[in-house]
Amino acid sequence: MSDTVLRLIGVTQQYGTGATAVSALSGVDLDVQRGELVAVMGPSGSGKSTLLAIAGGLAIPTTGEVVVEGAYLSEQSPRELARLRRRSLGFVFQDFNLIPTLTALENVTLPLELDGFRARAARRAGRDALAAVGLEGKASSYPDDLSGGQQQRVAIARAVVGGRRLILADEPTGALDSVTGEFVLKMLRARVDAGAAGILVTHEARHAAFADRIVFLRDGRMVDQTRRAGAESLLTGA
Ligand SMILES: Nc1ncnc2c1ncn2[C@@H]1O[C@H](COP(=O)(O)OP(=O)(O)O)[C@@H](O)[C@H]1O
Ligand SMILES: [Mg+2]
Repeated sequence: MSDTVLRLIGVTQQYGTGATAVSALSGVDLDVQRGELVAVMGPSGSGKSTLLAIAGGLAIPTTGEVVVEGAYLSEQSPRELARLRRRSLGFVFQDFNLIPTLTALENVTLPLELDGFRARAARRAGRDALAAVGLEGKASSYPDDLSGGQQQRVAIARAVVGGRRLILADEPTGALDSVTGEFVLKMLRARVDAGAAGILVTHEARHAAFADRIVFLRDGRMVDQTRRAGAESLLTGA
C-alpha cells in the first residue's frame, strides 16, 4: 500500500465567470504522506481555505484531481464521498465547530455514530481519542464549560477518532493564546507521528515550524516548498 494519503493533481479553482472571475487556485500539485504534516502559509485570500476544502471533498475543483488514499474523489458517488469524508477525514477549524448541546464525548463520537458504529464501540473509541489529547476527565463536560484550548483539543479528538488518516486544520490556533495554541499543535503533531497525514493552514511561522514541510500560496499558486531543515533556517533568517 502506498503511503501517499493525499494527492492533488493540477488543481484549479475558479469562482464566478467572465470579468468577475476569481482564480482561487491555479495548477496546484501536492502530495502528503503518512506521518507527514504540511504547513500551508500565504496572505489572506491566497487560496488556503479553498485548498483545504478541496482536499477534504467539501468543494469540487474546477479542474484537476483529488486522490485520498488511492480513491479519485471525482469518481465517487455523493454517497461514497460522504462516507469517505466520515471515515478518512477530520477537519479542525479556527472556531472549534463543536455542537453546544452535546458533551465533549458525544461531540467526538458523533462521526462514528453517523457511520453506524455501535454506541459502546463509539464510546470506547471516543474515550481513547479524548485521552490522547489529555481530556479523559472532561468527557461529560459541555463545550461552554471548557476553555478555548480544551474545546480545540476536543475538536482534534473528533478529527482523529476511529483512526481517521487525513487531518485538515484551518488556522486551528487562530482563536487561542500562544501557549494553548502550541499545545494544540503538539497534539496535532503527535497524531500525525502516530500514522496520520496532516495539512495545517497557519499564518504564524512559529507554528509552521511544527510541520515537516511548508508550502507557500500566493494568488492561488504554490510558490515555494521547504523541507524542515530548510524551513528552520528560513524562519530564523539564518
Ligand atoms: N465561495 C466563494 N465565492 C467567490 N469567491 C471566493 C469564494 N471563496 C473564496 N473566494 C475567493 O477565493 C480567493 C481565495 O480565498 P480563500 O481560499 O478563502 O483564501 P485564504 O484562506 O488564503 O484567505 C479569495 O480571493 C476569495 O475572495
Ligand atoms: Mg482562510
